[in-house]
Amino acid sequence: MFTSNQPECHFSLVLISLLSCTTNQARLTVSPSSSQFFEGDFVSLNCEEDDSSAGWTLRRNTSKRQRTQCGGDGWGEGAGSSCNITVFTQDSGVYWCESREGPISNMVNLTVTGGSVILQSPVLPVMEGDDVTLLCKTKTTPSNLPAAFYKDGSLISNRTSNNMTIQHVSRSDEGLYKCDISGHGESPSSWITVTGKPTNKSPSTPTPVSTSTSIPTSATRPGSSVLLHVLISVGSVCVLVLLVLLVLLVRQCNHRKPEADQGKAAR
Ligand SMILES: *[C@@H]1O[C@H](CO)[C@@H](O)[C@H](O)[C@H]1NC(C)=O
Ligand SMILES: *[C@@H]1O[C@H](CO)[C@@H](O)[C@H](O)[C@H]1NC(C)=O
Ligand SMILES: *[C@@H]1O[C@H](CO)[C@@H](O)[C@H](O)[C@H]1NC(C)=O
Ligand SMILES: *[C@@H]1O[C@H](CO)[C@@H](O)[C@H](O)[C@H]1NC(C)=O
Ligand SMILES: *[C@@H]1O[C@H](CO)[C@@H](O)[C@H](O)[C@H]1NC(C)=O
Repeated sequence: MFTSNQPECHFSLVLISLLSCTTNQARLTVSPSSSQFFEGDFVSLNCEEDDSSAGWTLRRNTSKRQRTQCGGDGWGEGAGSSCNITVFTQDSGVYWCESREGPISNMVNLTVTGGSVILQSPVLPVMEGDDVTLLCKTKTTPSNLPAAFYKDGSLISNRTSNNMTIQHVSRSDEGLYKCDISGHGESPSSWITVTGKPTNKSPSTPTPVSTSTSIPTSATRPGSSVLLHVLISVGSVCVLVLLVLLVLLVRQCNHRKPEADQGKAAR
């Protein structure tokens, strides 16, 4: 593969950069964007992948069965990396995308309730500083009913409407949220995960995510396998791999054809 010919050395470098930076990444998105659903709701799951040849599939763990695949294992309608499912309570669980080689995407925790109230909260981690709107919905009544919102079991807001906005979220807003509509009932609880800005990563919460791209972890809440962190760790792995490859290739090219040195110095 390595020829002594300099343009091809460069070509190898470019190729390897592209490969090492674009493979094995996917992002699981949920539509409609919510972590809670009523029975009978239609949910679309999608692995947004950089490398479709990696063969991404959608998988899930529920309380009954582990690591089952969309389409083939008795749930969902799957075509490649997308999956449609009409959900029932037994579909509650952790969902993720997995490539043939093993790397996994972010995980999302979906809860389907047989009850009549859901909390519509962000299913993906939210960025520090963003505004987050929580919506408390009933299955039957379309109108905007007064709702109470709770975080980690404590009342945080008793509203005259069905929604509340948390402005400029910070790490301290991370937690387990639910809502309650008088006369209709309580929603299930869902985690809201807040990720630090890439530049000033808060050390306060040690979320063990650094290996989330390579090992289907026994780790952590799914919330902590945040897209951002995945991207950051993939990014740094990428840079490292690239540096090593660069050094090796440059040496290889030098070794094979010393007179190519000049051209290389121009890089
Ligand atoms: C899922 O549903 C969407 C919208 O109804 C449709 O466009 C898409 O083709 C479906 N995907 C699969 C895999 O069935
Ligand atoms: C919310 O406020 C209403 C009206 O003030 C009150 O009746 C209700 O009990 C409050 N709910 C909670 C959960 O505190
Ligand atoms: C949120 O509540 C306000 C009333 O306070 C209402 O005007 C608005 O439509 C509600 N938003 C949603 C998404 O229901
Ligand atoms: C799914 O279940 C398998 C088998 O119990 C377990 O090893 C794995 O960690 C689980 N994955 C998630 C994302 O919970
Ligand atoms: C998913 O969310 C539920 C409810 O918040 C939580 O109890 C559970 O631990 C989460 N699942 C995982 C794998 O962390």
